[in-house]
Amino acid sequence: MATDLISLAQKASQNAYVPYSHFPIGAAVKTKSGDIYLGCNIENASFGLTNCGERTAIFKAISEGHRDFEEIAVYGETEDPISPCGACRQVMAEFFEPTARVTLVAKDGKTVVMTVDELLPYSFTELR
Ligand code: THU
Repeated sequence: MATDLISLAQKASQNAYVPYSHFPIGAAVKTKSGDIYLGCNIENASFGLTNCGERTAIFKAISEGHRDFEEIAVYGETEDPISPCGACRQVMAEFFEPTARVTLVAKDGKTVVMTVDELLPYSFTELR
């Protein structure tokens, strides 16, 4: 359930490496086989090399051989539920079904639930 993913995403944010933005993000992605991978944002003095929490979690799973994902939760210390960046939306569109659930979470636990297709409509993928 998304509830577990939410607390895992929040926990993952504690490992964020954010000396520049001081804006920790955590993500928890669940594969269709039921495995869960966590990710955080990882910044760099060369700012463009920063990797977002969502992509860290997804890439960890991909690099362990997973290709099919059920859902993802993303936590940010924001007033309103965190809004994933365009790059992360495109990566979700690559590996998730359009109807896959994305749970976005704010610091007070407020959530917004969207699908991958709602986050990136009319997306470019190999299949469409
Ligand atoms: N960031 C994420 O990790 N995920 C998002 O959904 C939005 C932005 C990170 C990138 C950077 O480390 C910091 O937040 C500020 O942009």
